[in-house]
Amino acid sequence: LERAGDAVTRLTRWCDDFPTAGVRFADLTPVFADGPGYRSVIEGLAVAGAGADLVAGVDARGFLLGGGVAMELGCGVLAVRKAGKLPPPVHSESYSLEYGAATLEIPCDAPDLKGRRVFVIDDVLATGGTLLAAAELLARAGAEVIGVAVVLEIEELGGRGRFDRYPLTSLVRV
Ligand code: PRP
Repeated sequence: LERAGDAVTRLTRWCDDFPTAGVRFADLTPVFADGPGYRSVIEGLAVAGAGADLVAGVDARGFLLGGGVAMELGCGVLAVRKAGKLPPPVHSESYSLEYGAATLEIPCDAPDLKGRRVFVIDDVLATGGTLLAAAELLARAGAEVIGVAVVLEIEELGGRGRFDRYPLTSLVRV
């Protein structure tokens, strides 16, 4: 069985100056498009999410991971959407990125998140703004965020330092 780290190292496509000058973008598309690679990351994330009763995936690549991990854990899945995609009423949380700003949203009460044990997933941790905003949004809606996880953590951007309140797992660190 291929390990997640091997698949990520072998298949990640690194893109300089995308989406803006000076940013080095890690595109995990080829990892997810590879059967053993995808299986390895789903299984790795599922270990970190043991005990969850809902998996939340962050728009957009977190959706590809969230569904697989939810199946593996036998629980449901929730899409944490970029602004403007969901009908009101929504909870929303804005955050800043290496390139600009953005807002994440979830439905207000469908599902009711009070007391739900939620595990939050995205593909990459860079500054950590996106994943932290997702965790805060879910917590404000009443969820117990039991952990957050990414496939790839870019250590030099220091995102990990923002996760004192939510246990952070990354399968691979560069
Ligand atoms: C990328 C990535 C993470 C986020 C990480 O998404 O998929 O969600 O950036 O960066 P951060 O740790 O500095 O917040 P992007 O914002 O490009 O959006 P997309 O998934 O809609 O393409």
